[in-house]
Amino acid sequence: MASTCAKATLALLLALVAAVIPEPGDAQVSIHPREAVLLRGGSMRVNCSSSCPKDHSLGLETQWPKDELESGPNWKLFELSDIRETSRPLCYENCGTAQSSASATITVYSFPEHVELHPQLAWQQVGKNFTLSCLVDGGAPRTQLSAVLLRGEEILSRQPVGGDPQDPKEITFTVLASRGDHGANFSCRTELDLRPQGLALFYNVSEDKLLRTYDLPAANPKLHTPDLLEVGTQQKLFCLLEGLFPASEAQIYLELAGRRLTQKSTKGRDFVSTTALLEVTEEFDRTLPLRCVLKLADQILETQKTLTIYNFSAPVLTLSQLEVSEGSQVTVNCEAHGGALVVHLSGAPPGPPTAQVQFTLNASSEDNKRRFFCSAVLEVAGKLLSKNQTAELNVLYGPRLDERDCLGNWTWPEGSQQTLKCQAWGNPTPQLTCRQEADGTLLPIGEVKAVKREMNGTYKCHAFNSNGNVTRDVHVIVLYQPPNYWAIITGALVVVIACLVGIAVYVYNHQRKIRKYKLQKAQEEAMKLKAQAPPP
Ligand SMILES: *[C@@H]1O[C@H](CO)[C@@H](O)[C@H](O)[C@H]1NC(C)=O
Ligand SMILES: *[C@@H]1O[C@H](CO)[C@@H](O)[C@H](O)[C@H]1NC(C)=O
Ligand SMILES: *[C@@H]1O[C@H](CO)[C@@H](O)[C@H](O)[C@H]1NC(C)=O
Ligand SMILES: *[C@@H]1O[C@H](CO)[C@@H](O)[C@H](O)[C@H]1NC(C)=O
Ligand SMILES: *[C@@H]1O[C@H](CO)[C@@H](O)[C@H](O)[C@H]1NC(C)=O
Ligand SMILES: *[C@@H]1O[C@H](CO)[C@@H](O)[C@H](O)[C@H]1NC(C)=O
Ligand SMILES: *[C@@H]1O[C@H](CO)[C@@H](O)[C@H](O)[C@H]1NC(C)=O
Ligand SMILES: *[C@@H]1O[C@H](CO)[C@@H](O)[C@H](O)[C@H]1NC(C)=O
Ligand SMILES: *[C@@H]1O[C@H](CO)[C@@H](O)[C@H](O)[C@H]1NC(C)=O
Ligand SMILES: *[C@@H]1O[C@H](CO)[C@@H](O)[C@H](O)[C@H]1NC(C)=O
Repeated sequence: MASTCAKATLALLLALVAAVIPEPGDAQVSIHPREAVLLRGGSMRVNCSSSCPKDHSLGLETQWPKDELESGPNWKLFELSDIRETSRPLCYENCGTAQSSASATITVYSFPEHVELHPQLAWQQVGKNFTLSCLVDGGAPRTQLSAVLLRGEEILSRQPVGGDPQDPKEITFTVLASRGDHGANFSCRTELDLRPQGLALFYNVSEDKLLRTYDLPAANPKLHTPDLLEVGTQQKLFCLLEGLFPASEAQIYLELAGRRLTQKSTKGRDFVSTTALLEVTEEFDRTLPLRCVLKLADQILETQKTLTIYNFSAPVLTLSQLEVSEGSQVTVNCEAHGGALVVHLSGAPPGPPTAQVQFTLNASSEDNKRRFFCSAVLEVAGKLLSKNQTAELNVLYGPRLDERDCLGNWTWPEGSQQTLKCQAWGNPTPQLTCRQEADGTLLPIGEVKAVKREMNGTYKCHAFNSNGNVTRDVHVIVLYQPPNYWAIITGALVVVIACLVGIAVYVYNHQRKIRKYKLQKAQEEAMKLKAQAPPP
């Protein structure tokens, strides 16, 4: 700062000197070269020459270190070194009383020593503006220096750097974050355009900065779990968040009562989900907070839910005996535990729900295979849960064999095909046999190919099981054609008469033949006698 001030003062002084002192008509000082461009810190030669014939007090006014290299009758060659800024060295001379001067313009350029890009945050939200600042240290002339923001190779924005080359300059760029920016390398490039000075365009580039962008939906993760969890069951806890970016970098987990669950996470193109299997055991408290937490960038989204754990076992339904004989008393008892109430027990008289319901019944054959049903309810967190239990009664009863199951009179035509239906009822299933009273012949129960005459008769059907026995008479009447005696007698008579007639005809014919023969014999005798007699 101080040197800048001093230089300014000096330049002002020289200008003043030039203005105040009138130049002589022909005395001329010239400087060569009049214009130069050089890299900061470089050196150059300046030739000051004069047309003044007599006095030779040529001098060079400059703030840079100078060496007089050579001199001639009216010239002096100087070397300026370590030229650090754009400046105007001045050749001057006192020609008699007159003083004259000439200045040259040395344009000093320098490359930025340091170019750096500072993202404000590691993560940027998609759809929001964010700023990136490019810090440029050094670089001159600043009027020809600009800063360019690059995404990969693509130019996003350009701004002049400006300011004093001595002071580091921060240029800020505003960028609208997009999904495409995620994972892209951003950099800042300075461009020193020395083409007007006959040089080139010089670049200096900062290091790449990897930018990360994220996008989150307005909604929180969705928790899919039942509110009530039963002890002894396995529950699937599921949490999902859709519409986020980049899903691959999101972290999602489930936390039950502050304890992270072992889970399996799935990441799709724009969703993440996690699943945990929970063994609900009795060690859990009655209520547990469940959290689903999603972390992306520096953001945390979470959903909370309170799970209620309950213990509910089905009511205990008992029968005093599972198998009884007909007529015995059976006590049906249903008991609910853990605060549950029995709301229904089949067969029991209606009443308000209580922890236990009981009744007694006289077992009848109709009760055999009867299913008793008991249901209990438990109220958990305002919800009514129901469970039920069933039991079956087995009633043993004696055989039943009545008209309905076994007809007392069966009338069948002989030779017809019939099914002999006779069934005895009872528990256990009775055994049934039908025997003819007289000779003990068995009546085949079931399909009969052809009804035989011999099956006619009265049978005793006997059914028995462990509970007793019963006997029933069954009459089987087989219809068949009785023999026709008149026809037989008539037939026999016809045959007899026919025989007699035949015999009579035969006898008559025989007699006739004998008689005829005898006549013939007589005639022959007569002829013989006639022949033997002498002719008259
Ligand atoms: C300096 O300039 C003068 C006048 O133009 C010239 O005669 C002289 O040769 C120059 N010196 C050098 C070293 O170029
Ligand atoms: C800036 O660029 C120039 C040429 O383009 C190079 O010579 C110089 O070393 C660079 N400066 C830095 C600090 O990288
Ligand atoms: C981002 O900045 C630009 C101007 O730089 C402005 O037009 C735009 O509305 C801003 N967008 C948001 C989302 O802030
Ligand atoms: C970003 O730059 C790093 C190294 O600077 C490089 O490994 C990576 O591939 C670049 N990424 C892209 C998308 O160009
Ligand atoms: C759950 O219920 C069963 C049967 O009713 C009982 O043995 C157990 O002690 C109960 N556990 C809790 C934690 O209530
Ligand atoms: C059961 O039988 C007993 C006698 O054996 C009788 O007093 C009672 O009323 C019967 N109960 C029912 C429900 O029939
Ligand atoms: C009884 O409980 C079983 C499950 O244990 C269930 O499938 C059935 O629907 C229940 N019956 C009634 C009538 O509630
Ligand atoms: C069978 O028939 C006889 C007479 O034909 C009758 O007296 C008897 O009651 C009948 N029996 C049944 C069980 O119908
Ligand atoms: C057939 O059997 C019935 C009894 O079932 C009996 O009354 C009848 O006399 C029998 N008939 C014959 C021809 O045996
Ligand atoms: C049938 O039952 C009676 C009693 O009802 C019993 O005396 C008899 O021995 C039983 N007969 C058979 C074959 O079980």
